Amino acid sequence: MENKQIHLHHLLLHHHFGSSKNTLKSISLFSLVLCLFITTAATKSSAFNLSTLTFEQGYVPLFSDFNIQRSPDDKTVTLLLNRLSGSGIISADYYNYGFFSARIKLPADYTAGIVVAFYTSNVDTFEKNHDELDIEFLGNSNGKPWRFQTNCYGNGSVSRGREERYRFWFDPSKDAHQYSIYWSPKNIIFYVDEIPIREIVRHPAMGGDYPSKPMSLYATIWDASSWATNGGREKVDYKYEPFSSEFRDLVLEGCIVDPLEQISSTNCTDRVARLMAQRFAEISPEGRKSMKWFREKYMYYSYCYDNLRYSVPPPECVIVPSEKERFRDTGRLREKMRFGGSHNRRHNRGRGRSSRRRSRRSGSGKEAVAAAAAM
Ligand SMILES: *[C@@H]1O[C@H](CO)[C@@H](O)[C@H](O)[C@H]1NC(C)=O
Ligand SMILES: *[C@@H]1O[C@H](CO)[C@@H](O)[C@H](O)[C@H]1NC(C)=O
Ligand SMILES: *[C@@H]1O[C@H](CO)[C@@H](O)[C@H](O)[C@H]1NC(C)=O
Repeated sequence: MENKQIHLHHLLLHHHFGSSKNTLKSISLFSLVLCLFITTAATKSSAFNLSTLTFEQGYVPLFSDFNIQRSPDDKTVTLLLNRLSGSGIISADYYNYGFFSARIKLPADYTAGIVVAFYTSNVDTFEKNHDELDIEFLGNSNGKPWRFQTNCYGNGSVSRGREERYRFWFDPSKDAHQYSIYWSPKNIIFYVDEIPIREIVRHPAMGGDYPSKPMSLYATIWDASSWATNGGREKVDYKYEPFSSEFRDLVLEGCIVDPLEQISSTNCTDRVARLMAQRFAEISPEGRKSMKWFREKYMYYSYCYDNLRYSVPPPECVIVPSEKERFRDTGRLREKMRFGGSHNRRHNRGRGRSSRRRSRRSGSGKEAVAAAAAM
């Protein structure tokens, strides 16, 4: 694991969705009813059958050990961000397909500029053609809600972002909630509390854009002042340090392999078949209803509806009329969200991404700025 290095995101997404006048306080009876609906939908289908690991069993520190706290039973890891550094952990192994999950509690109160990330990647092994599946939580200034995004890269497809952005139906800093990434040769599903929120079904035309090389699981907290909140206008305020994010109920399931072996000595056929036979591998009819509900109410950006960026939606996009009618051809909402705020109409869009190692941080942002200019 010595050669594991930091993988920093420089995702320059200059959307300005952050400014909301309403806060979570304004969640109406309407949405409470919807919460009940979604909770019922989740409990009706019996829970995923998962076995959790201690930190020692599955993880190693990624960076800034001094900001990684482990509970006495080693089942809870707290990652701190303070003025010295963020911090991160990484799975000790690579998985050739898998299910990755944790219950995460995000920092409360003022969290502008902060990103907490839970993602799979192999950028440390395949620098030029890495794969990645992201859940990234974006902090906000006092009283404004956290938001999050998911993304997918395959074989170095960094110029073809597949972002979706969402709000929550709960306050993710109040309690721990379960976030999961399921990844198989057939499909990818992102879950929040066992509610499927996004599915990517592998389409042949995706080619290498569909992640297919072994990946590790990463969990990090870091200062992303340059882009995370309100297009970078609201920065991390270290007056409120340390910012702490708690991870527990750690689940790593899949076929463990050595990513550098040309012909793997591990035959993953049976292990992957077992993975794909699990409940989380397929979305039930109730799950579909919950997913539709979530996406209609809480998704506020989708690359699939961003016709300015992709005049033809990427092949895996499933255009859902009830979703599409809510979006402009910028992939952004036509109307204000029903609660949780407005979105700023001023565009200063730029997208681009580069993942780089710690040693190559200087000069970061250049490619991203170039990509932004090319939009
Ligand atoms: C849950 O998984 C364990 C092995 O991980 C298995 O022994 C058990 O039978 C499973 N339970 C159910 C209800 O599927
Ligand atoms: C992945 O990228 C490598 C290097 O750029 C290329 O040689 C390979 O053909 C790509 N694989 C797929 C499946 O597109
Ligand atoms: C891997 O295992 C499966 C099922 O056990 C078997 O059918 C297949 O031939 C094996 N593949 C290799 C390359 O050994």
